[in-house]
Amino acid sequence: MNLINKEIKAVNGIKIPQVGFGVYKLNKGEDFETAVGEAIKIGYRHFDTAKIYGNEKDLGLAIEKSQIPREEFFITSKVWNTDHGYEATKKAFEQTCKKLNVEYLDMYLIHFASSYYLETWHAMEELYLQGKIKVIGVANFEIQHLEELMKHSKITPMINQIETHPEFTQNELHQYLTKHKILHEAWAPLGQGNKALLENTVLKKIASHHEKEWLK
Ligand SMILES: NC(=O)c1ccc[n+]([C@@H]2O[C@H](COP(=O)([O-])OP(=O)(O)OC[C@H]3O[C@@H](n4cnc5c(N)ncnc54)[C@H](OP(=O)(O)O)[C@@H]3O)[C@@H](O)[C@H]2O)c1
Repeated sequence: MNLINKEIKAVNGIKIPQVGFGVYKLNKGEDFETAVGEAIKIGYRHFDTAKIYGNEKDLGLAIEKSQIPREEFFITSKVWNTDHGYEATKKAFEQTCKKLNVEYLDMYLIHFASSYYLETWHAMEELYLQGKIKVIGVANFEIQHLEELMKHSKITPMINQIETHPEFTQNELHQYLTKHKILHEAWAPLGQGNKALLENTVLKKIASHHEKEWLK
């Protein structure tokens, strides 16, 4: 099976395409349209954006242009630090949906554990129970943040999106997430193009086995 289409299940049974296409730093306009258009063409359905990336509207347009039903996509966005708090989060969620031109989000994450993240989470729990978000989670949360969140919430985060790559495996946090049935999602799986990582002998061996090479 094509890795792009492989799915994993969140604790509530929702299926998540395991490999997503992140649009961080992807320029708006023509570049965005070409890159996301190609990604859709080769089979990507999971797209990861955030309010702070400033390209939610472009992602919505690219998805619409594909003429593939919205339900076939898995769209993630994130609530930014300046929108923390109960009311502010609800408003931010509505704006994100409007920009993406969708009725619901497949996944919504707290981008960082800055002030008022508990109130933010309570708003997300409510949106989840109303069926407006299929999977709720967090990003960049450490164990202490998760402990605090779980102590004051009804729903445990279903996923934590954290920096993870072969030079930064986050073993301790990974074990904690596994214990609490929280999925571990990697951001920067390629180390953000880190040249040293791309020269890693094990990775080079794997790449050559698959007849792939890094772009210089
Ligand atoms: N939650 C968070 O706080 C957070 C933070 C960061 C990222 N993310 C999410 O995770 C996604 C992925 O992370 P990321 O974009 O930061 O890092 P990444 O995917 O690890 O790395 C992207 C970099 O890898 C380079 N690259 C890709 N394929 C390559 C190849 N075959 N040969 C050489 N270089 C290659 C790209 O170079 P070019 O630029 O030259 O194409 C780009 O600079 C983001 O788009 C975003 O959705 C989330």
